Amino acid sequence: MKKLILSAISALVIGTGAAFAAGSEGHVEDHAFSFEGPFGKFDQEQLRRGFQVYREVCSACHGMKFVPLRSLADEGGPEMNADWVRAYAAELDSVIDHDTGEERPRQETDHFPSRSGDGMGPDLSLMAKSRAGFHGPYGTGISQLVNGIGGPEYIVSLLTGYTGEEKEEAGSVFYGNHTFAGGWIQMTPPLSEGSVEYEDGHEATVEHMAEDVAAFLMWTAEPKMMARKQWGFVAVLLLALLSTLLYLTNKRIWAPYKDHH
Ligand code: HEC
Repeated sequence: MKKLILSAISALVIGTGAAFAAGSEGHVEDHAFSFEGPFGKFDQEQLRRGFQVYREVCSACHGMKFVPLRSLADEGGPEMNADWVRAYAAELDSVIDHDTGEERPRQETDHFPSRSGDGMGPDLSLMAKSRAGFHGPYGTGISQLVNGIGGPEYIVSLLTGYTGEEKEEAGSVFYGNHTFAGGWIQMTPPLSEGSVEYEDGHEATVEHMAEDVAAFLMWTAEPKMMARKQWGFVAVLLLALLSTLLYLTNKRIWAPYKDHH
């Protein structure tokens, strides 16, 4: 019943949101993710698949300079094997050591490499939190309250939103995209059917890969989301308990005076 009411409210909000959305904002579709809702959790298998997509496709043009490599082995994340992470770090671009000032192989205590220069895209560490997929109605934020900010949805829509059109302007190529503001993006469509081969047998369609990498990027942007939700729940429970006690105490204190009538 609660679910029904909630979905009725969100349908209403999405409806009004869509009706009043400003024209310049791109189109973003809702996608269901395991980590949504007050008890949502990251799906470890999905994080692993998303990391594979980042590693094999996106990392060519996008860095993640705020994400420590060793967090890949942390509980609640993709939980890669620590030895594997060490070996992976060593394969990445070398770093200049802070202390010695000399070049050395990257270690698991370092962060992911950054990318800059021609044709390279923005850093993806916090992208899932810096893009809002849902807006309106009238910028009240009601839609965001119900649907979340929709950063992962924005990423899925962006990656699956290519129209197939291309144009050249001032020596640069632009690709038609439903989701990108303005409708034209300089990123070549990065995914095509079977771009990666998943070990768990999950079908590597463009949509699946887009969802997986979006989930992974939600994790890089907020690795402690699950702990935050758990503590939030504990806090709500404690507040409820406290309120009940206060109510009962209050009743007791006033009881003698009320009985006089
Ligand atoms: C060949 C290089 C290249 C690859 C590979 C690539 N990107 Fe990009 N990406 C870019 C460039 C360039 C931009 C900036 C586009 C612009 O501003 O017009 C960009 C922009 C983005 C943006 C920001 C869009 C915005 O709202 O500003 C996201 C998100 C993104 N890429 C995600 C990905 C993901 C996820 C992958 C892997 C599936 C990927 N990219 C693969 C080059 C690349």
